[in-house]
Amino acid sequence: MDASAPIGVFDSGIGGWTVLREIRRELPAEALLYVADAAGAPYGDRAPEFIAARALAIADWLQAAGAKALVVACNTATSAAVAQLRRQHTLPIVAIEPAVKPAALLTRSGIIGVLATSHTVAGGNFSRLRDALGGNVTILAQACPGLVEQVEAGVLDGPVTRGLLSRYVTPLLAQGADTLVLACTHYPWLAPLLRELVGPEVTVVDPAPAVARELRRRLTLAELLAPAGVSLPTRAVTTGDPQRLREQLDRLGEVTTSVSGIELPLRSAPHALSPTGVQPRSSTP
Ligand code: DGL
Repeated sequence: MDASAPIGVFDSGIGGWTVLREIRRELPAEALLYVADAAGAPYGDRAPEFIAARALAIADWLQAAGAKALVVACNTATSAAVAQLRRQHTLPIVAIEPAVKPAALLTRSGIIGVLATSHTVAGGNFSRLRDALGGNVTILAQACPGLVEQVEAGVLDGPVTRGLLSRYVTPLLAQGADTLVLACTHYPWLAPLLRELVGPEVTVVDPAPAVARELRRRLTLAELLAPAGVSLPTRAVTTGDPQRLREQLDRLGEVTTSVSGIELPLRSAPHALSPTGVQPRSSTP
């Protein structure tokens, strides 16, 4: 495997870019290849089989594109598909998870609020994390339908976004939560608004920096760190409209070398799994 090969990072949309930013900060020499599965987004309220089929197809595409490692920059995809991805791919895989353990070390009230998609709140991974902490900490999991759509639309403030966020965090604060975990990678785009709403006494935890550090550890072990002193490109592809992704990234002030469109090589039952009902063609990266 070539150490100059890109690291593949994926999410349903622009959420995982909050993880990519941290990877770029931690590992500035690396080539990054970002997949936004806009045609399958949002994942949060989909069936696990749908999300798993998309995640596997994205991993297949990234592997064919020469990726040296995969980062699942989507809590929902981790919850629905990481076990299957690890069984079916030999590349190093680093997957984001709700940062409940770090939050347990930070809380003073012993009460943590976790903001996530409906799927992540209901998912097995989340219950496992909750069980691992035993009885010392109370975890209040809050599904936040609608927030991903606001972020995708670029509405990071304004009455609708504020109203939704406030409706989700108010009950958590009322129950004594002093630490909030951003357990969906779209939500760090809303962190300034969230901090304004909850005030300085509440700690907001984003697991993305820990994901970037874990990626560094895994690449170091595999002797796959990009050679120092080079600066390799960040490219983005989408299963949706490349122009839209370009506009979203521009609006967020994010830099890429290129943005282009792809179709996913879905492995099975494409009619049932494609959100559009259109049979996807296989594509060559
Ligand atoms: N960004 C994703 C996550 O971390 C999910 C967004 C979606 O619902 O598509 O869970």
